Amino acid sequence: MTDISSQRLNKIISNPPWGATLEIKGWLKSKRDAKDFSFLDVGDGSCVQGLQVIADSSLANYQSEIKKLTSGCSLRIVGVLQKSPAKGQSAELIAQAISVYGWADPDHYPLQKKRQSFEFLRTLPHLRGRTNSMGAMIRIRSRLSYAIHHFFQERGFHQIHTPVITTSDCEGAGEMFTVTSLDLDQLMASPAQQVDFSKDFFGQKAGLTVSGQLEAETYAQAVGNVYTFGPTFRAENSNTSRHLAEFWMVEPEMAFCDLEGDMDLAEELLQYLVADILASCPEDLGLFNSFVDKGLLARLATMQEPFQRLTYSEAIDHLLASKQPFEYPVSWGIDLHSEHEKYLTDSLFHGPVMVSNYPKGIKPFYMRLNDDCKTVAAMDVLIPGIGEIIGGSQREERLDILQQRMADGGVAEEEYQWYIDLRRFGTVPHAGFGLGFERLVLFITGLSNIRDVIPFPRTPGSAAL
Ligand code: 4AD
Ligand code: MG
Repeated sequence: MTDISSQRLNKIISNPPWGATLEIKGWLKSKRDAKDFSFLDVGDGSCVQGLQVIADSSLANYQSEIKKLTSGCSLRIVGVLQKSPAKGQSAELIAQAISVYGWADPDHYPLQKKRQSFEFLRTLPHLRGRTNSMGAMIRIRSRLSYAIHHFFQERGFHQIHTPVITTSDCEGAGEMFTVTSLDLDQLMASPAQQVDFSKDFFGQKAGLTVSGQLEAETYAQAVGNVYTFGPTFRAENSNTSRHLAEFWMVEPEMAFCDLEGDMDLAEELLQYLVADILASCPEDLGLFNSFVDKGLLARLATMQEPFQRLTYSEAIDHLLASKQPFEYPVSWGIDLHSEHEKYLTDSLFHGPVMVSNYPKGIKPFYMRLNDDCKTVAAMDVLIPGIGEIIGGSQREERLDILQQRMADGGVAEEEYQWYIDLRRFGTVPHAGFGLGFERLVLFITGLSNIRDVIPFPRTPGSAAL
């Protein structure tokens, strides 16, 4: 058997070795029986397409096994690859031997050949990866992750593994999950008492990170440009199609960089990722363009145009001038709601929009105060259909102003001595941003619910598998 090459279907289909004897391994998608043979459609998850296998009734186990195969069975097939006489079917494998790794009880196997709703598939996180759409999603997600590392590494950014457990609530939004080894049952038994975190595992209250930014800032001011790409946690009770309690965030941080440079990098990164995925996953994108969102490829093409850039104040003027009624009233100082963001990207500019210089009152303490003393050097990238995909800023590098902003925002200096030290010892202008990885995958696939672009979504009330 040594001369038989075991190949994955994406390789076989893209460059068919006609006449070769091949071994494939995968799962049965569907089967159709003819008079003296059966057609098996077998997939192995390497591409959208399956390979058609012809199983002749002369095979030794045809009656005993092959005729009994049903969707989901796992198989090893050895056969000869030939051009199919049928239309629309370029290659088929004439089986010489088929063996079954595992049966899939047809009375209980929940996946069917017909399309099943994304809502239903969400109830099967352990099996939905076998469907065409979830397979395509996971391949796109994986490629994007690779392309992100490639983008930064090529540009001399160093990856920093920032901690998952931390004591600083970077965004100051009080959305941290607490990490504790205290005995909760015992605490509940004496509820009058205040929890004494000095007796906890870390000697103080700790939680899961909401952003690796503050830690990344320390290394940007040591080794130059850095990035972190890791899991991020927010106990945010928003049950929307764009929020997860556990998501992945890409956070570059650049020393000697201002807001302008920050926006340039954000634009370059998004354009690079879209171009990369168009070139590397055309078949997977084609599936989403055909079955999920017919405008997908056209929308991705708009990303190669320069992004529209405007200030928050200009955005507010546009919203005030709009004839569209908004549920949340518009005035200078409000945080933009998704209906406002959608108006800017989908109705007004028909493409990505970068909004900069937000009012200081709605942004965290670390953002650099502008000369007008009313706004900070913040920027958000908004994209069609999604809204905010990136949030970033130039950081406040001036010690006295940072301390003032902390005092104004009620941020305890004692807890951020190390962060203040960075302004005391060789401070430099620096800037960075966070790209929500799942929002990126949503945009690239055209899928509409963030629960469908991460293998195991964590949302309020849901973390089982
Ligand atoms: O705008 P955010 O909160 O920014 C920060 O955390 C900064 N510290 C980043 C930085 O400057 N290094 O979050 C950044 C991005 C958002 O634009 C959004 O794409 C995504 O993270 N995001 C979420 N994605 C999924 N579910 C959630 N609950 C998210 N919250 C934020
Ligand atoms: Mg934000």
